[in-house]
Amino acid sequence: MKSLVVLGSTGSIGRQTLEVVGSQKCLKLVGISFGHNTRIAERQISYLKPRYVASLKREDSLKREFPDIKFFCGAEGIEEMLRTADPDYVMVGVPGIAGLRYSLVATEIASRICLANKETLVCGGQIFLESVKKNRVELLPVDSEHSAVFQLLEQWNKPRRILITASGGSVRDMDVEALQHVSPAQVLKHPVWSMGKRVTIDSATMVNKGLEVIEAYHLFGIPQDRILTLICRNSIIHGGVIYDDGVVKLHVGWPDMRIPISYALNYPVRQVVNKEFDMNSVSLSLEPLDEKKYPALSLAREIVGQLSFQIAYNSADEVAIEAFLSRKIKFTDIFKVIQSAVKRVDPCDPSGYNEVMEIDRVSRILAMEEVSKCSSQ
Ligand SMILES: NC(=O)c1ccc[n+]([C@@H]2O[C@H](COP(=O)([O-])OP(=O)(O)OC[C@H]3O[C@@H](n4cnc5c(N)ncnc54)[C@H](OP(=O)(O)O)[C@@H]3O)[C@@H](O)[C@H]2O)c1
Repeated sequence: MKSLVVLGSTGSIGRQTLEVVGSQKCLKLVGISFGHNTRIAERQISYLKPRYVASLKREDSLKREFPDIKFFCGAEGIEEMLRTADPDYVMVGVPGIAGLRYSLVATEIASRICLANKETLVCGGQIFLESVKKNRVELLPVDSEHSAVFQLLEQWNKPRRILITASGGSVRDMDVEALQHVSPAQVLKHPVWSMGKRVTIDSATMVNKGLEVIEAYHLFGIPQDRILTLICRNSIIHGGVIYDDGVVKLHVGWPDMRIPISYALNYPVRQVVNKEFDMNSVSLSLEPLDEKKYPALSLAREIVGQLSFQIAYNSADEVAIEAFLSRKIKFTDIFKVIQSAVKRVDPCDPSGYNEVMEIDRVSRILAMEEVSKCSSQ
């Protein structure tokens, strides 16, 4: 049985991964990491009993409660836990650029990386992919759209285009004027998926789709103008591939993240996750996505392949979301903050992790300057 470490175990992806592993009994869970959610982590540890646990802060009470488990703390601790646990598979369910560091370590250790953290490809690009190649790691996408495309690609035929769908997020039916006044609580109510805060807000601004276009470009080596984005309101169609002979293959199924998680963990085998899909009970329909309403998606398309801009796009979004959640800026300011950082950051081609983190640092400063401007207006 292969061994597994789950990074970000207390989050949306992490909890669903543990659910899949617990019900399928397909892998041996040897380690977990989390940030600050001690309550959920405690339940996971007592139920699944991993040998190694890492958290961002010191967890003295957990150490006392579970004396047989080895604990690590801090970002270095999470890295050390990964190296000590030495798993076959790693699930990267940490959000933001923080995930890049762990994904890079995972390439040196694991034979398979199940990648939920899209920022690894957005901020690490070729740096990450070269390490994957050098270490002969299998890279399995967990994002539902990329998992769908991965499952539809054919060995002998190149796709003409690929399709990734978007639900449209929580404010999809509001007009641009009304978007000025939406509150964090309104934006956090996603119509289909239950996800972490950042990805939920990113779904509403379409930054998420922007990050996913960039992710698809790196993952599948397809230019951005051949990556279609369409709205699928019920998230039943996850992705598609269009071939030269006119055939379109669509990936259809329940909007249930446990399905791509299970696929990544068990590939190439499919395990039971959900009840059989009922074709009669749902409508299959796609709508055009108005890129004018979602300038963040158009901006992502403009910067694809330029790593310093991709990093700035992500870092500024992380800063802007925090400012929006603490009501310092309006929902519509999120794009302004991202645009400003991308415009002002120096174009360059970082060759390693430290250079990526330096661009991240500078971009955050630029983003914070724009946040101050927006909040004083
Ligand atoms: N959720 C989805 O359905 C979904 C779908 C596709 C892709 N993704 C991607 O998957 C990633 C995770 O998303 P999520 O929705 O699962 O996020 P989430 O619910 O916010 O969970 C994040 C997890 O990572 C931990 N964490 C947060 N910051 C960390 C840091 N700096 N270092 C180490 N651990 C940290 C959190 O710990 P604590 O909570 O204990 O503090 C939690 O366990 C994101 O990149 C997202 O874009 C998610």
